[in-house]
Amino acid sequence: MCGIVGYVGSRPVLPVLLDGLRRLEYRGYDSAGVALQNSDGVLIRKACGRLSVLEARVTDITEAGGFTAGMGHTRWATHGRPSDENSHPHCCLSGTIAVVHNGIIENYQRLRHKMEQAGHHLVSETDTEVIPHLIEEYYQGDLVAATRAAMTELEGSFALLVMSSDEPGLLVAVRKDSPLVIGLGEGENFVASDIPAVMEYTKRTFILDDGELAVVRSDGVEIQDGTGAPKVKPVFDVPWDVQAAEKGGYPHFMLKEIYEQPKAMEETLRGRLIDGGIFLPEFGLDAETAQGIERIHLVACGTSHHACLVGKYLIERLARLPVEVDVASEFRYREPLVTANDLVIAVSQSGETADTLAALREGRRRGARGIAVCNVVGSTIAREAEAALYTRAGLELAVASTKAYVTQVVALTLLAVELASLRGLLGAQELGQWVSQLQKLPQWSREALALAPEIETMAQELARWEHAFFIGRGLDYAVALEGQLKLKEISYIHAEAYAAGELKHGTLALIVDDIPVVALATQSHVFGKTISNITEVRARGGKVFGFSKDKAMAQYVDRMLVLPDCPDLLAPAVAVIPLQLLSYYTALIRECDVDKPRNLAKSVTVE
Ligand code: F6R
Repeated sequence: MCGIVGYVGSRPVLPVLLDGLRRLEYRGYDSAGVALQNSDGVLIRKACGRLSVLEARVTDITEAGGFTAGMGHTRWATHGRPSDENSHPHCCLSGTIAVVHNGIIENYQRLRHKMEQAGHHLVSETDTEVIPHLIEEYYQGDLVAATRAAMTELEGSFALLVMSSDEPGLLVAVRKDSPLVIGLGEGENFVASDIPAVMEYTKRTFILDDGELAVVRSDGVEIQDGTGAPKVKPVFDVPWDVQAAEKGGYPHFMLKEIYEQPKAMEETLRGRLIDGGIFLPEFGLDAETAQGIERIHLVACGTSHHACLVGKYLIERLARLPVEVDVASEFRYREPLVTANDLVIAVSQSGETADTLAALREGRRRGARGIAVCNVVGSTIAREAEAALYTRAGLELAVASTKAYVTQVVALTLLAVELASLRGLLGAQELGQWVSQLQKLPQWSREALALAPEIETMAQELARWEHAFFIGRGLDYAVALEGQLKLKEISYIHAEAYAAGELKHGTLALIVDDIPVVALATQSHVFGKTISNITEVRARGGKVFGFSKDKAMAQYVDRMLVLPDCPDLLAPAVAVIPLQLLSYYTALIRECDVDKPRNLAKSVTVE
C-alpha cells in the first residue's frame, strides 16, 4: 500500500533509500522514486515499473553529489494509473518542497481546485500532488509549521515525508491512519512505512501514533503531538533479526515462509500450554468474564478472514458461544448489532489493515470490548485494542500470506479451548488432551510439508487450466476458501470455493470434462457426505484432486494426497499447507511472480 523511506545522515544516501525500497516493495510495486537533498537543492528521479527501472535511472548519481538527506517511495496506485508523472515524490510549484505519501487524501479534488485557483500547476492525476502545493502556500521559512498547517486541511489517511531545499538536513514525518516508523541511529536517523526498511541499520525505533509529527535530523529526532508540543515516546526495540528479512536460500519468500510454519506454530504455542492448561494472560479472561460474553464478532480481511471462519467454527463448537464473522470492510457500514457484553476480535497479520482497524474502532464505539489477534508487535490494531494476542509468526514478506494464517488459526484454537474451559465445558482430562494434541501440531505440519513432491506433480495438471473449484464441508470449507484465494492471487487461475453440499444448487452447471476440483475431506463426521458430492462432480466429468487423512477417499477421486493423521478439529492448520504448496508450484509453472502478484500489496492501509 505504498512504501516510504527517508534518511538523514552521513552514509551515501541513495543506497540506503534503494535498499529500504527493496524491502518495502511488498507494499506496492507499480512505480518508484527518490528525492535527494544537497546544498544545491532537491534532485528527484522517478520511474513507472518495478524498482529495477528506477535503479537504471539513477546510475549517474554518485557520492560526489554530497547528498545528506533523501526520501523514496514505492507505489501501489490508488488515484491515477502507474506512470512516471504519477510516481512519487511530488513537488510544489517552485520545485523546492518534495513529498512522498502513503494513504488517500479524500478531499483532494477540492484542494486541487483551490490550488489551481491560487495559480499552482498540477501535473499528475494523483491525490498526493496537492500536498506539496498546499505546504508551499503555508511556507514562510519553517517547514514544520507549514506541514502542520497543511495537515489541518487534509482529509483521509496519510503517512507523509516532507523535505525542502531551503532547510537542508531536515525531514518532516507525519502520520494519520497510515503507519510510520522512525529508526534511531548514531548521527543518522531513518523513517519508513515498516520496520524491515530500517532493520539493517538500527533496531531502536519510535512508532508514530496518529496526529504525531517527527522532526528528523541527523543529530536527533523530536516528536511533537497534535498541538506541536514536544512528546517523549518510549523506544521500541525491534524483536526480529536482519536474516528474517532475507530469503535464506529459498527462491521465494513465499516458499521460505511456507517452510517456516512448523517453527511459527511452535512460537505461537510457546509458553501458552502450561501444566495441562491454556495460558493466555494477554486476554485477561477469567471464568466470570468468559461466562458474561454474549457474542463474539471476528473481523478481518482476506486470508485473516478465512482464519476467522475456522475460529468461528471452533469457538461455537467448543465454547458454545455465538460467533459472527464479518469481512471488516462491511462491518461498520451495516449497523452491526453489538452490545457491551460482546467481544470484538480484530484479526490481522500486519495490524495495519485500514478496514480491520475501522471495524475494531466501530466495535469499541458500540461498547464492546475490542481485542486483537495480530502478528506485528506494536502495530496500530494491537495498540488500539484493549488486549492483544500476538501470533508470533515472525516477519512475513511474501504478499500471499501463509505462516500468518496458520498461526492465526492456532491462536484462535487456543482461544476457543480456553473459552470452553473457562465456561466449564471442558473437564481437566479433555483439556489435557487438547494441550497434548496442540503440542503435536508442528510435527503434523512438518509431515504436510514432506508431501511437496506429490503436490508438485498435481500442480502440473492444474497449471494448464484457467478455472478451478475447491469444495469441502465444515472446517474444510473454511480451508477451501483459503486454498482458492492462494491459487487466484499468485497463479491468476480463476478459482472458487464452495461448501461441498452447495455445488448442486447451481455451480454444478460449470463442471465440464476434466475441470479441476480440489476436494477436502478431513472431517470424519461428514466424510461420507463429501464423498457423495465428489461423485456428483465426477459424474459430470470433473477431475477431482482429493485431500484427506482417510485413504478410503482414493477410490472416489482422480488423484489423492494422504494428509497427516491429526484430529479433525486441528486439521485446518495442517491441511492448508498442501494447498499453499499447490498454489506455489502452479504459479511457478505458469511463470508468475510469486512474491509480487500483479495489482496486489501486502499491507492494505487504505479503505
Ligand atoms: C492474502 C493476503 C491478504 C491479507 C489481507 C489482510 O494472501 O495476505 O488477503 O490477509 O489483506 O491483511 P492483514 O492480515 O495484514 O490484516
